[in-house]
Amino acid sequence: MPRHVAIVMDGNGRWAKKRFLPRFVGHKQGVDALVDTVRACADRGIEYLTVFAFSSENWKRPEEEVSGLMGLVLMAVSRYLAKLAREGVRIHIVGDREAVSEQVRAAWDQAESSTAHNTRITLSVAFNYGGRWDVVQACRRAMVDGVPPEQLTEERLGSYMALSDAPDLDLFIRTGGEVRISNFLLWQSAYSELHFTDCLWPDFGEAELDVALTSYAARERRFGGIQGAAPQTAAALPAG
Ligand code: IPE
Ligand code: IPE
Ligand code: MG
Repeated sequence: MPRHVAIVMDGNGRWAKKRFLPRFVGHKQGVDALVDTVRACADRGIEYLTVFAFSSENWKRPEEEVSGLMGLVLMAVSRYLAKLAREGVRIHIVGDREAVSEQVRAAWDQAESSTAHNTRITLSVAFNYGGRWDVVQACRRAMVDGVPPEQLTEERLGSYMALSDAPDLDLFIRTGGEVRISNFLLWQSAYSELHFTDCLWPDFGEAELDVALTSYAARERRFGGIQGAAPQTAAALPAG
């Protein structure tokens, strides 16, 4: 079982279009799919779930859709926060909070503070997040801390990246049929297993999660090594 799963929740718009409904209905249905998926992950012992809810690039969408999505954050928090808190979910928001409204920021703060004590599963919601933004913010913060260049190792920079308190990402899922990363967890997905499904996000649930987990269980993760061979000790590896 993976410890850390990430999902690009894509396909809300197409789900709605297929039903001759406004795109917003797809997004709304997507929130319900998320709540069900969080529970399904927790039930299966997954400790960390990270979801892509709004990308740095999603600001390019029509203003009506962007404001609909912002409104949906407020609706989702007021409707589901208490329930998620009761179920032992710890909520964490990752992304650039500067650009979102005061109201949305307050909703995120409330979601984080009222679930901070929970330990069953950590749900990280990537909102106004981009993988490139993440690398840049990490570098900036390391520079502000005065980290000297020769001390900026992968580990040190990693400690400034989003999700640094979570274990490495094991399984990266994308719904909606597109086979691309779309600027999600670029740094964190270096060695995660990828699973793409045509299932549109509002249709995702336990059954689709289990398909992804079964596929994951059959993968042979080598991390650059050779299966069955004992890894060399660090001292035996070339320097650098
Ligand atoms: C994903 O669904 C949700 C967000 C990006 C906010 P889309 O809105 O991208 O749905 P499609 O890809 O148009 O179907
Ligand atoms: C990725 O989906 C972002 C989220 C799911 C939040 P997009 O629909 O924005 O990605 P592209 O435009 O198809 O690459
Ligand atoms: Mg999309």
